[in-house]
Amino acid sequence: MQKVATISIGEKTVEMPVISGTLGQDVIDIRKLPAELNVFSFDPGYGETASCNSKITFINGEKGILLHRGYPIGQLAEHASFEEVIYLLLHGELPTEKEYKSFKHTLITHTLLHEQIRNFFNGFRRDAHPMAILCGTVGALSAFYPDASDITVPAHRELAAIRLIAKIPTITAWAYKYTQGEAFIYPRNDLNYAENFLSMMFGLRSEEYRINPILSRAINRILILHADHEQNASTSTVRLAGSTGANPFACVAAGIAALWGPAHGGANEAVLKMLTHIGKKENIPSFLAQVKDKNSGVKLMGFGHRVYKNFDPRAKIMQKTCHEVLAELGIKDDPLLDLAMELENVALSDEYFVQRKLYPNVDFYSGIILKAMGIPTSMFTPLFALARTTGWVSQWKEMIEEPGQRISRPRQLYTGYAERQFVPIEKR
Ligand code: CMC
Repeated sequence: MQKVATISIGEKTVEMPVISGTLGQDVIDIRKLPAELNVFSFDPGYGETASCNSKITFINGEKGILLHRGYPIGQLAEHASFEEVIYLLLHGELPTEKEYKSFKHTLITHTLLHEQIRNFFNGFRRDAHPMAILCGTVGALSAFYPDASDITVPAHRELAAIRLIAKIPTITAWAYKYTQGEAFIYPRNDLNYAENFLSMMFGLRSEEYRINPILSRAINRILILHADHEQNASTSTVRLAGSTGANPFACVAAGIAALWGPAHGGANEAVLKMLTHIGKKENIPSFLAQVKDKNSGVKLMGFGHRVYKNFDPRAKIMQKTCHEVLAELGIKDDPLLDLAMELENVALSDEYFVQRKLYPNVDFYSGIILKAMGIPTSMFTPLFALARTTGWVSQWKEMIEEPGQRISRPRQLYTGYAERQFVPIEKR
């Protein structure tokens, strides 16, 4: 039997269907509200609003569960290559061996950038934040692939998706090379996705770059852990921009801009800055006192999440990976890791964090791994953007392919002046 929710305002009552997904909370379909009761719903920040149907990612924030197309994140991080996860997110199923081979070939043959794009980098200052370079360059791709602007053609959508996912490691690595004043390193067809990124980031023209399997495995895992996270701020931005029919390169550039903020993808960089600022374990109590003081504006970066009210499952894997990577790199005592673990322990037993269900999120440990791998702090968020491009593109494609898709257009509760009369300047 169809479940319904009933809402009454004064004499008028309306029944609204309650819709169930395969997992997770039911939703009330409120689309009849304005027509039947002349009201909108009010949900600033969309915290309690399902803005779309999606088959890609499921999160249970209370239990700390994250599934991609039904597969637990832990299993994917442990066993899959990033290319398999790209295929899974884009196409809905894990690839067969034959599909995998052909998909990897397709990806690797789209990694090069148009030579003209090299010139874009020169327009930036050498000290530009790589996220600024990423934002501008990804948006500029639309000028090189005007065929992608007819997104009604399925083959164009597919090609644009592949181009974005295949080229983003090249753009990200080149953004770094540019800020270092080093020559750009071109992608290599004999390397996988993670290896190629490392080679373009750390390789030099003057010698052959040898892949360190520890680093490439760690990057592979970090990419998987960041690949998608349902309707977060940047993904919703990509969907909102895409709902207008804008081309996918411009939409992903919008996603990169949204990711940049410290409350979202910028948190990994902020965590490392915070740990460096705290400096030593003895300073933890005074730092946490600041965090708990609402007037200080200081937050415990890498803690808390809009959806997870339990451990972020990605944080657990990240913490384990952090220990593995440091051990494999022969780093016995990392003062930042020690400090982070102590900070986590103190926070998790502090009433302030317990009461508010604040746990470490994916960004709490990722910075420590990236730093140990020699990746500079300013590249942490670009690496997140690199990984999330797969999620953005998959969500964009799903949205465009949804029957009856229309422009997203939230409403508002207006609290400004009622209508008033214009006053000429000399009388104001
Ligand atoms: N440090 C101190 N207090 C916090 C924190 C924190 N990191 N996070 C939340 N709170 C407090 C918040 O002040 C509020 O307290 P009160 O009820 O007394 O007003 C309570 O906890 C509930 O938090 P909220 O502000 O309603 O939570 P939100 O869903 O709006 O914000 C968040 C989620 C991730 C923006 C926030 O937890 C935060 O700013 N965390 C630090 C930044 C961070 O690590 N971001 C990465 C998120 S995971 C990666 C990603 O998705 O990009």
